[in-house]
Amino acid sequence: MAMICLVSAKNSPGVTTTAVALAESWPRPVLLAECDPRYGDIVAGYQQGGGDVAKGLLGLAAIHQHTDIRQEVFRHVQPLSPTSPARFLAGVQVPAQAAAVSVLWEPLSRVLPTLIVKRRTVDVIVDCGPLHAPHAPLPLIQHADLVLLVTGDHLEQIRAAHDAVGTIAAQLAAARPYADPRWCLAGVVIPPGARRHNARADIEQALDIDVIAEVRHDLRVGAELLGRRNLPSGYSRSGYMRDIRELQTAIDRQLNRPAPPARTVATSRRLTVVPGEAAHAG
Ligand SMILES: Nc1ncnc2c1ncn2[C@@H]1O[C@H](COP(=O)(O)OP(=O)(O)OP(=O)(O)O)[C@@H](O)[C@H]1O
Ligand SMILES: [Mg+2]
Repeated sequence: MAMICLVSAKNSPGVTTTAVALAESWPRPVLLAECDPRYGDIVAGYQQGGGDVAKGLLGLAAIHQHTDIRQEVFRHVQPLSPTSPARFLAGVQVPAQAAAVSVLWEPLSRVLPTLIVKRRTVDVIVDCGPLHAPHAPLPLIQHADLVLLVTGDHLEQIRAAHDAVGTIAAQLAAARPYADPRWCLAGVVIPPGARRHNARADIEQALDIDVIAEVRHDLRVGAELLGRRNLPSGYSRSGYMRDIRELQTAIDRQLNRPAPPARTVATSRRLTVVPGEAAHAG
């Protein structure tokens, strides 16, 4: 089981589309949690209005003060699509709801990484939206097994992503003082057009994190995903979905890497060696 947070730095690079495509092709039980504090696009987009906005953060926020939400999360989820085994926790519909649901970030950061349903562990993919949005779900980012920073390949996007790497690393370090904060952070490049502006290796070098995958810009397939209730026929064989499956494999590889060496921490009296922390405990 793992909690994987997708976050952007700037310019709507494709976080929600990638999260939906990943959840629809995930090889294990999975929950897609829509925690972008501005707009939930999935009910109106991918679900074409067919979903239930109360089955999600809004429903949980209404009961969280008098209920232990650990027991409640799975009563507030719905199928991601009529034919999908993936479950979906709907997000806010307008930014004015963000403050009300932001009280959930802390409890959800402890519940989502350890979800078990019918004795099976559940992976959780979180759409966190842009890092700098008001009421961004920073506690979820802090406790993620893996944070994926999604970026385009234009220079201004890479510059914003570079700044976001510093902010995310600081968040991760706060929750894991003895582990390398970049251990749980990786990049994904989605070029915003057909023409490439910077190569993956150069982006990796500029960001100083692993860039684990690229997802092609695909007008026909990628741009349609948020406006469909079901994947169009032939979707699974498309180059776009091949990229998504390669991303999924890269995520698993990243989660299953051996733990980094322990970091040595100097105290006032003596040196203490603290065991390294595995990125993925499940
Ligand atoms: N791989 C892709 N190829 C082509 N178009 C894409 C691709 N991924 C996403 N898009 C399109 O780009 C637009 C933005 O995508 P999406 O809403 O997923 O981005 P986002 O990062 O979640 O944005 P926001 O910050 O607004 O939530 C949408 O029109 C979507 O259809
Ligand atoms: Mg989005």
